[in-house]
Amino acid sequence: MTHGKPDIAIIGGSGLYRLDEFSVEEHRVVSTPYGDPSEKIIIGKLSDIRVAFLPRHGAAHQLSPTAIPQRANIYALKEIGVRRVVAISAVGSLRSDYEPGHLVVPDQLVDRTSGLRRSSFFDNTPVAHAAFADPYCPDLRSAILSAGRRTGETVMHDGGTYCCIEGPQFSTRAESELYRSWGLDVIGMTASPEAKLAREAELCYAGLSLVTDYDCWHDTHDSVEAHTVASVMARNVIATQRLLLTLVPGLTADTECSCSSAMEYAVLTDTDAVST
Ligand code: ADE
Repeated sequence: MTHGKPDIAIIGGSGLYRLDEFSVEEHRVVSTPYGDPSEKIIIGKLSDIRVAFLPRHGAAHQLSPTAIPQRANIYALKEIGVRRVVAISAVGSLRSDYEPGHLVVPDQLVDRTSGLRRSSFFDNTPVAHAAFADPYCPDLRSAILSAGRRTGETVMHDGGTYCCIEGPQFSTRAESELYRSWGLDVIGMTASPEAKLAREAELCYAGLSLVTDYDCWHDTHDSVEAHTVASVMARNVIATQRLLLTLVPGLTADTECSCSSAMEYAVLTDTDAVST
């Protein structure tokens, strides 16, 4: 059987390890110079459109945020022909109006990971510096927001700064208050370096964040507990899946963004050519 390339990939986060109404055609093993991706990539049809699905933490949530092979994941998606990536993730909220159960489409990112993650395909020769002022694809963000408005499943927020921490522990109260004082909006453990790598791979990349908790700054939360995150996530997953069913058929047109030529404008240095 010959199948077309999947144009769209959905990266599933905590609590989203498979998609309902997804007719699975193939589990694709893709090997990459960066090792194996988190799982075999599942390729199939959603709303009659071919899409790829990759559970970021593995199908049994066996990978901690630090252990996710982010370079292999993005490389593998590019390799199978994907051009757009919708990155689903569970997040805590750092502001009272972004409530558990709401969806957020972030427009900015602050990287608070600890340097343990390999965050570039260009950390050797050649060295490249991709523009990353706007980490998320504007076209894909708009498409997600409009699909969310059409499905109207839950409250959806247009914009917010995603603070990516190393984890796997949740934040201390002091850290949570610090991030709030910086004006950050949601907190999670996976958007970086995923978004950076997607930019270097010239993919359109946007996040769809599911608020599962208020992090520990809020009066109602003495601390964040993994079981609360999981149960709110289970409820949000239904809204997310409905949104995806609406989003995917609307993503067939060519984009006007510059994601697919991101590296044309990157500062590139071939260190072999530089004499000392
Ligand atoms: N994922 C879900 N809730 C979170 C939180 N409060 N902090 C970091 N990552 C999260």
